[in-house]
Formats: sequence, C-alpha cells, structure tokens
Amino acid sequence: MLHWPDSMMSYLTKDNILFSNDAFGQHLASELLYNDLVDQCELFQEALKYYANILTPFSALVDKKIREVLALNVPVDMICPSHGVIWRKDPLQIVTKYAQWASGQAENQITVAYDSMWEGTRHMAEAIVQGISGEDQSVSVKLFNIARSDKNDLITEIFRSKAILIGSPTINNGLLSSVAALLEEIKGLRFKNKKAAAFGCYGWSGESVRIISERLTESGFSLLNAGLKEKWSPGAEAIEHCLRFGQEVASQVKGP
Ligand SMILES: Cc1cc2nc3c(=O)[nH]c(=O)nc-3n(C[C@H](O)[C@H](O)[C@H](O)COP(=O)(O)O)c2cc1C
Repeated sequence: MLHWPDSMMSYLTKDNILFSNDAFGQHLASELLYNDLVDQCELFQEALKYYANILTPFSALVDKKIREVLALNVPVDMICPSHGVIWRKDPLQIVTKYAQWASGQAENQITVAYDSMWEGTRHMAEAIVQGISGEDQSVSVKLFNIARSDKNDLITEIFRSKAILIGSPTINNGLLSSVAALLEEIKGLRFKNKKAAAFGCYGWSGESVRIISERLTESGFSLLNAGLKEKWSPGAEAIEHCLRFGQEVASQVKGP
C-alpha cells in the first residue's frame, strides 16, 4: 500500500538490488541517473516533496515496511525506485530519512499561508510573521500566498512545520476557493502532531476564521487558539493584534 494496493518491492539476490517501486522515489529526472552524481539539496528536497505529497497518509505503513525490510537482514547495494534517481551511494540513507519522516517529527518551523482579495489578510499575515520572529529568533517562519505558490511546495513546507497558520478573508459567508482547496488537500494527507490556527479579514458576518478552524480540527490539527479576525482593511490597532497573535503562537510552540 505504498502508495497503491498493488505496489510491490522486489529484491534481486546476488546483485543485492532492491526495486522499491514508489517508495524512496522522487519526481526528479536527471541523465546522471545516480544519487551521488546529482545535486544533494535538490535530491533531498524532491524526495521530501514526494514523501510529503504522496506518502504522508501512509506513514504508519512506511514505518512497518521499513522494519520488515530491515529485519530481512539482506545486503542492499542499490535501491532502484520507479521514479527518479537510483540510490547507489549509501543507499540506506534514504531509508533512514523515510523512518524519520514517517515518525511525524516536525522541524522547528512555522508556515503561514493565506490568500487575500484586497491585501488586508496579507497585511495580517505579514504582521503575524513579524510577531513570531520577534518572539522566537530560532524558529524558521515561511510565508506563502496560497494562490501564487506551487501547491506541492507549500504542502512540503507544511509537512516540515510544527505549526501552520492559515488565513482567508470571508467571501460569501465562506472562504476564498484557493484556501478551501488547500484545506481539502491537507485533510486527505492526514498530517500528525501539528498545531494550527486561523486568521482573516471580514466585512460583516466573518465566518472564514471559524470555518478554517473547523476544517483544521477535522484534519487532525490541534488548535492553538480560536483564531484572529479583523474587520475590513487592518489599521494600526489590528496590526498590533496580529503582532501579538504571532508572539503568542511562537511562545506556545517554542522549543526544540
Ligand atoms: C465578493 C465579496 C463577498 C464578500 N462576502 C462577505 C461575507 O459574506 N461576509 C463578510 O463578513 N465579508 C464579506 N466580504 C468582505 C471582505 O471579507 C472584506 O472586504 C475583507 O476586508 C477582505 O479582505 P482582504 O483584503 O484580505 O481581501 C466580501 C467581499 C467581497 C468582495
């Protein structure tokens, strides 16, 4: 089930090659073919992107499968996945990475992702980021406009994060469709051990923050607070609220 019911690994004796099917793959095409010949940052970023976007819901099975394969105690000289470059130099390094990713342990990172019609929610997001960085200089904070970002890159950053903050203004008693689409994707990926909160501007009824909070809860995130909503375009006082909101979030999730 990594990641389809008929996915199977094969092991070739004598040559000691594990044909790992979808596990340990990347969407990386290189005529250089082997892991030791390509750019290492790109390789691991692509391997992580593949894991985050495709294998996250199967993390419990990844863990089980890794234990099963290691228990066979057979020599592995090469891992040939069905996508991307071939692992021939220290091939078990990607197995170690998978064990780490499957454990659900996040990096010291907070991702703030929003969309906005008239920039109000963007100004909120920027002030929240400033509040986080002011409170905790060690945490990596990444800010994304959802509509203008590559969806798979954004999911990868969410995968790395210990907390995410999602922002949308209220539109027709709901969310901007870009934000709703991201939340749908997040729900399907069944992330574990992550914290979250919502924010956004509104004009009169202001449902967006409640809806985002509900969707994040349904998706298994633990909410840090009830969210922050600001009426119309945020002025100095509203920006002050956002800075404080960011500081509070940072202090709630501070730590290694
Ligand atoms: C088409 C449209 C529909 C809207 N519907 C609602 C609504 O149902 N409830 C509400 O509180 N505000 C509504 N608003 C107001 C926006 O939420 C408000 O202008 C907000 O400040 C926009 O934030 P932004 O600058 O991040 O786009 C609507 C605005 C537009 C343009």
